[in-house]
Amino acid sequence: MLNENVNNSPVVNKEKVKSMVMIVDDNIANLQVAKNSLSESYDVFTVPSAEKMFDLLKRNKPEIILLDIDMPKMNGHEAIKVLKSNPDSCDIPVIFLTAMSSPEDELIGLSLGAIDYISKPFMPQLLLKRVDLHLLVQNQKKLLEMQTKKLEAQGKELLHFNNNLQNMVEEKSNDVLKLQRAILKTVANLVENRDCFTGGHIERTQRGLKLLIDGLNNIGLYREQLFEWDIDLMLDSSQLHDVGKIAISDVILNKPTKLTDEEFKLMKQHADLGVKIIEEMEREIPNSNFLKHAKIFAGTHHEKWDGTGYPRGIPGEEIPLPGRLLAIADVYDALVSKRPYKQPFSHEDAVKIIKNGKGTHFDPVLVDVFEQVAEQFKLFSQSE
Ligand SMILES: [Fe+2]
Ligand SMILES: [Fe+2]
Repeated sequence: MLNENVNNSPVVNKEKVKSMVMIVDDNIANLQVAKNSLSESYDVFTVPSAEKMFDLLKRNKPEIILLDIDMPKMNGHEAIKVLKSNPDSCDIPVIFLTAMSSPEDELIGLSLGAIDYISKPFMPQLLLKRVDLHLLVQNQKKLLEMQTKKLEAQGKELLHFNNNLQNMVEEKSNDVLKLQRAILKTVANLVENRDCFTGGHIERTQRGLKLLIDGLNNIGLYREQLFEWDIDLMLDSSQLHDVGKIAISDVILNKPTKLTDEEFKLMKQHADLGVKIIEEMEREIPNSNFLKHAKIFAGTHHEKWDGTGYPRGIPGEEIPLPGRLLAIADVYDALVSKRPYKQPFSHEDAVKIIKNGKGTHFDPVLVDVFEQVAEQFKLFSQSE
């Protein structure tokens, strides 16, 4: 609001800007009474008709409209319908200020979208209180809407930031995982290469293990355990099952004849040694699922169902399922592979030997699964 000083130069009036109230009534006396009641607190616009109100609304947007109903030409009911159907004015609160004071009239007025209904004649103080109250509520509502919008915008920003961060973390985690797998595959290859006779053993046992897991899945056995596994991770981690051989002497690993009892005893240590090596790795990479599975494979692939295996001699389902599965894939490959001290067994003989070990060396249920997928073992073992 601007005042003018003696030099006709405008100065800013530092008074608080008042909220604008528009009063629409064809009765000039009523307009004057209403204006007198409110002008101390509000910037009041008095308007003699609905048509004039729409003219003024093109340039001004009041905080509230007090609207008479009974007016010539456009009445208050028609006027509020137009107000509420226009996006520019639909949010301006309207109070009917009228002599039509029956409950039915009031109901119609409120149904058309008015926020209140004040009967004429009114007490000036009461009119002021009602307008104060409605504007307070409207201001609170606007504030709340603004805060909600602000919060929504902040929420969206946060979500966007979070998604980006998540993508970055996922990318980095994948890189780390790939690197981890590449290093561990290299370690597995190094171990395998120390032993001149078992080339390709790790890859073939991995493929055999996959056949057995697929077979289990097909018949729905051990479903709960399989559901928890990341199969690719499991298969990769099986590569370390003989990592303990890294600590076994070359003389034993590469002995061209059958091992003596004493040498075999030393060779058997590779299961425990494997566990220890993987535990060392876990100190550097804690909480790695890959290493957790690898440790189970290393420590249990030579256990037997009847408890006569090594290193711990645990029986039956005390042997973790990955170890029981790998035992079959591992023994099958050892049987059909050539060693300096033995000729390879035929596929049929290897299957027969594994079947004979049902319930003694191997989990009987897993031998049944093996039988179902044995032909596929034959395919890749012969192609090597
Ligand atoms: Fe082994
Ligand atoms: Fe092995």
